[in-house]
Amino acid sequence: MMKILRIGYNSCGIAAGAEETLNKLHELLDGNSDFEIRKTGCNGMCYLEPIIDVIEEEKVYTYGNLTADKVQKFIDALAKGTHLEDWIILHPDHPTTQSSYQDKQVKLATKNIGVIDPENVDDYVAAGGYRALEKVLKTMDRQDVIDQVRASGLRGRGGAGFSCGMKWQFAKDAPGEEKYMICNGDEGDPGAFMDRSTLEGDPHGVIEGMTIGAYAVGAQVGFFYVRAEYPLAVKRLRLAINQAEARGYSGKNILGTDFSFTLHVIEGAGAFGCGEETALIASIEGKRGMPRTRPPFPATQGIWGKPTNNNNVETYANIPYIIREGGAAFSKYGTDMSKGTKVFALAGKINRGGMIEVPMGITINEIVNDIGGGIINNGKCKAVQMGGPSGGCIPSHLHDTPIDYENITATGAIVGSGGMVFMDQGTCMVDIARYFLSFTVEESCGKCTFCRVGTKRMLEILERITAGEGTEEDIPLLQKLCDAIIKGSLCGLGQTAPNPVLTTLRYFRDEYEAHIREKKCPAKKCKALITYRVVADKCTGCTLCAKTCPVGAATGERKQVHQIDDELCTRCGFCKDACKFDAIIVE
Ligand SMILES: Cc1cc2nc3c(=O)[nH]c(=O)nc-3n(C[C@H](O)[C@H](O)[C@H](O)COP(=O)(O)O)c2cc1C
Ligand code: SF4
Ligand code: SF4
Ligand code: SF4
Repeated sequence: MMKILRIGYNSCGIAAGAEETLNKLHELLDGNSDFEIRKTGCNGMCYLEPIIDVIEEEKVYTYGNLTADKVQKFIDALAKGTHLEDWIILHPDHPTTQSSYQDKQVKLATKNIGVIDPENVDDYVAAGGYRALEKVLKTMDRQDVIDQVRASGLRGRGGAGFSCGMKWQFAKDAPGEEKYMICNGDEGDPGAFMDRSTLEGDPHGVIEGMTIGAYAVGAQVGFFYVRAEYPLAVKRLRLAINQAEARGYSGKNILGTDFSFTLHVIEGAGAFGCGEETALIASIEGKRGMPRTRPPFPATQGIWGKPTNNNNVETYANIPYIIREGGAAFSKYGTDMSKGTKVFALAGKINRGGMIEVPMGITINEIVNDIGGGIINNGKCKAVQMGGPSGGCIPSHLHDTPIDYENITATGAIVGSGGMVFMDQGTCMVDIARYFLSFTVEESCGKCTFCRVGTKRMLEILERITAGEGTEEDIPLLQKLCDAIIKGSLCGLGQTAPNPVLTTLRYFRDEYEAHIREKKCPAKKCKALITYRVVADKCTGCTLCAKTCPVGAATGERKQVHQIDDELCTRCGFCKDACKFDAIIVE
């Protein structure tokens, strides 16, 4: 019986060693007709890559952590007709320790990722691909399409959560013959990688969704705007566009109809602000990527002043399902106001970092504990940052909150595009606010004074507080600046830049006060406010700390209690990690 070996080959898998694993598979199996090797995207379990599915008699056995050094043993077992049960992370016949990562997921937008070969249009078609486009072109008029999308309740997945159907309606109704489509794959939030994984793992799905949108609004040309830091996504997208054109799914007279739609890929230079749609449009036009005032909205005046519809990668990726199954099938998932599923990237101090797709309405706790497997080192979750630099930190006592646009906004954060960064008790919330502010200061385009200068002043205050030089006036001053920046900024970047500060002030004010009043960092993170000390009773004089310290601050004789020179110590923490006797503490 022939076995298919399907290896996860997105950027995350390659970074974890999938290329070496694949080379080893070829070395052992090329010419062996008992095995067929295929490439696929990432099934979302980034924390266990490299991942290989073994498909035999229609059953799928998923192996994790299959680095190149393990391939020989793996192949030997398969060749004997057996499996290495301990290495299987998902078993077709019974639950495994990893099953809970998948159990609560519902895959609509990401159903093909980690299943099909993203570089092979036949695989996409065999999985039901381009059937929605065919249905639209052969049986639906433009308004029917928009009605289905409206019925689905799909809201834009790029951050603002605006109704996709309404947006398409505005662009359709906008006067003018020449219209454009944009797919926003700029994805600049630190910790977010959903769009990269989707474009790498199922580019045809996004092309199909966007092409259906183009038919609905009456656009002839479309632009994928993808950051240049995503070279594999760009490569697979270009390949997919060529394949779709060759098969008549894109380009002139699609599927023999009089509907034509040409796609281009534009590589962004990695500026976070270029994800904002008016800045993105300027960038496509060859201008500097700076936002402009809205209205006019792109639906009436977008690229070169023509009506333009812009949606996020995930928004388009949902469309083929909605058309194939009907808007009602999509809207049966989710909450009253936020329908369907949402893709999230789990990052930070979580055991199972990866990409998930879950029904709206799931709680943060379910994501942390049931899917994410809890916090690393048996730690406790302190907060989750949702929505990247525009979002906020949600403390653990609010983690029973069902995730939808309204509930998350009520916490002071935003659903955003789907980045979730988890923090444990060792995370300093003032330092987190400082980190996000440093990001927005770097990324501000400089057009508005409050965003350009105000965020810089806020960053200076946060740097002062984390350096132990904060004063009583700093918190009211921060709040004043937050208000002014929100009011005085033109685009979402500036308007939301204060959110990480506002949410940490709202939920973790005691940490700010400890830094300012007691000159202490409760999480023991801020270097200016901590010291490393050897506990004499515990020290065995093993000398490991002295050998590890890069600056010679830890010293002592063998079998004698060691000491740390506070003046020399850079607070790198290497000695504490090295000490096997827990004899080094942070105060
Ligand atoms: C600073 C900033 C960065 C943004 N970055 C992105 C991005 O990377 N991807 C994205 O889809 N939307 C981003 N947006 C939101 C877009 O302006 C726009 O709302 C979105 O692309 C619309 O698509 P949707 O309706 O499908 O969500 C950003 C907005 C701002 C203010
Ligand atoms: S708010 Fe900031 S990023 Fe947006 S236009 Fe103004 S200066 Fe530029
Ligand atoms: S590593 Fe720990 S036990 Fe060893 S000398 Fe340093 S403090 Fe003492
Ligand atoms: S914290 Fe770093 S610099 Fe300080 S004593 Fe330990 S190893 Fe040396």
